[in-house]
Amino acid sequence: MNVQLHMIRPAIVGDGGFLARLRAASLSELQLLEPGCAATFETDAERAFEGLLARDEIVARLLVVGGDVVGSACVMFWHRLPYATTPLHGELAGVYVARAHRRRGFARRLCGEVLAAAHKRNVRRVVVHPSPAGRALYAGLGFVPSGELRLGTSEGGYAVHSCGAPGLEVDISKITT
Ligand SMILES: CC(C)(COP(=O)(O)OP(=O)(O)OC[C@H]1O[C@@H](n2cnc3c(N)ncnc32)[C@H](O)[C@@H]1OP(=O)(O)O)[C@@H](O)C(=O)NCCC(=O)NCCS
Repeated sequence: MNVQLHMIRPAIVGDGGFLARLRAASLSELQLLEPGCAATFETDAERAFEGLLARDEIVARLLVVGGDVVGSACVMFWHRLPYATTPLHGELAGVYVARAHRRRGFARRLCGEVLAAAHKRNVRRVVVHPSPAGRALYAGLGFVPSGELRLGTSEGGYAVHSCGAPGLEVDISKITT
């Protein structure tokens, strides 16, 4: 059996290019990015990730297998209105593992580590907007349906509707890695 060395490490300033490449691969696979737009997207996304890392608005973990960066998970932070405990919330996003390395528990570990890092920042709640493949993964990590509503655009104007792909949220204090 070919067992390659692997590690999960924190993303730091300078890793924006890796995060951008993985993000482009994920969006392409989910058919949310046209093949012809990937190169431009990656350039813009690298700049955006570098800014998020530099401003400490994101925590991320990278999966490295055989020296190649092949997976990621991020939590983005934002503040809601003042709250009795903390207004800080997070969104789990950018969860991706390259096809050759799937179903070996890497996404579960990436998410566990990045959620633990978010927990250390004292976030009140973390949400995720799952792809079909992500639903079982996040349910296994303790995420539950949240009943969130979303305001979206549609032909003819804005419409308030119940989210087509319902969001999930997790009580961060229950996460164990
Ligand atoms: C979703 C994704 C991140 C899973 O990565 P992975 O490393 O293969 O996941 P894991 O091995 O950690 O799987 C953990 C659990 O998630 C669930 N799971 C993972 N992939 C799944 C799939 N394709 N279909 C259904 N359940 C799946 C299973 O319950 C799995 O546990 P099991 O293998 O013991 O049954 C990966 O398929 C991927 O990158 N997909 C494309 C991008 C994407 O959809 N990202 C999520 C955005 S919200």
